[in-house]
Amino acid sequence: MNLYPLALRLEGRRVLVVGGGAVASRRVPALLDAGARVVLVSPSLTPALRSLVDAGRLHWEPRRFEASDVDGAWLVQVAVDDRFAAAAVSAAALERRVFCVRADDRHEATAWTPAVTRHGPVTVAVTAGGDPRRAVVIRDAIREGLLDGTLPGCVQPADRPSSPVAEVVGGGRVVLVGAGPGDPELITVKGRRVLAEADVVVADRLVPGLLLDELRPEVELVDASKIPYGPARAQEEINRIIVERASAGLLVVRLKGGDPYVFGRGGEEAIACAEAGVPVTVIPGVSSSIAAPAVAGIPVTHRGVAHEFTVVSGHVAPDDPTSLVDWPALARMRGTLVVLMGLKNLPAIAATLLAHGRSPDTPAAVVQEGTTATQRTVRTTLGSVVEAAQSFRPPAIVVIGEVVGILP
Ligand SMILES: C[S@@+](CC[C@H](N)C(=O)[O-])C[C@H]1O[C@@H](n2cnc3c(N)ncnc32)[C@H](O)[C@@H]1O
Repeated sequence: MNLYPLALRLEGRRVLVVGGGAVASRRVPALLDAGARVVLVSPSLTPALRSLVDAGRLHWEPRRFEASDVDGAWLVQVAVDDRFAAAAVSAAALERRVFCVRADDRHEATAWTPAVTRHGPVTVAVTAGGDPRRAVVIRDAIREGLLDGTLPGCVQPADRPSSPVAEVVGGGRVVLVGAGPGDPELITVKGRRVLAEADVVVADRLVPGLLLDELRPEVELVDASKIPYGPARAQEEINRIIVERASAGLLVVRLKGGDPYVFGRGGEEAIACAEAGVPVTVIPGVSSSIAAPAVAGIPVTHRGVAHEFTVVSGHVAPDDPTSLVDWPALARMRGTLVVLMGLKNLPAIAATLLAHGRSPDTPAAVVQEGTTATQRTVRTTLGSVVEAAQSFRPPAIVVIGEVVGILP
């Protein structure tokens, strides 16, 4: 028997979910996302569902199912393991001609939920003749194609009036995208999608090269690290380029290493766009300040060891009058210190921390090119970190604190 596919518009419509366990926890978010008015009947709830109830997003009837619960529902989702309880819900739904999805036995259901992938405004739903595993395999293949832009139709050619993303604001715009710390797979799903839709990409030096390799041939790629002025003028030039291209109606992705707002000058670009009346949004990225320690086996916080972590830039020396960092205060703190751009000034930074009371035995580590194939790490102490870091080159972070060495 062939299926008849439909896309349900559930906004404001009552959907009954019976059961409050793991299956309901998986199903309810997509129903809420579609705007459904979800009523959940179950004597108990998982913590995830309870938090939705507490947030007022879900109405919970803390009791067993009654046939009259189906009254007024447009759809019923049965999420209980007990076959007899599930059959009672199905029977009540059938009697009232309400479509009913069953987690316990799809052959007894009047509707099936497909394997789904969402890609901005595009939703792809796959059924494979009642074989859910095959549907998932096909769905995953389509998702890959949508993410890397190889599926026809998922990327709008540059000469169309606007890409799907740009349509949202009716013209050109700038998206500040965090590319992650180095591993090309550590960009967010959303970041990768917008990258595949970009007309212009303005990329920093630390952006993973493989991400740029995936761009469509017609995309204009501006290498921001090659702009031939000093840092201040170069930033002005970048601001000018992104504003100009977006004003011409193009979707401009400003791609930055890590997170755009962690020592990434993303704030200056957002201000430049706002001043020029160009719409600008940000897609956060995985910052090297957390990712590089993580892949080197260092959790930046640890219960009973460090209840704070501080991320500082070391590119201005501690005794420089323009420094905004209170190094003596950092020396007194017990938590984790993560120093970015600190290799050049490491002797002065370590000396300042030691002079203001941080113990020379404090564990320390240096991580170079974290998350990439060429990652290097050294574990040492604050007293020896300068010597240990001799052969290290940027990009590298320095981590100081008891969390270094806490993992085996
Ligand atoms: C201008 S900052 C940009 C930081 C970036 N916005 C972020 O959130 O990771 C550049 C500094 O970040 C650090 N960094 C960036 N990527 C790194 C990586 N893969 N491994 C270690 N440190 C990295 C280095 O300290 C480098 O000098």
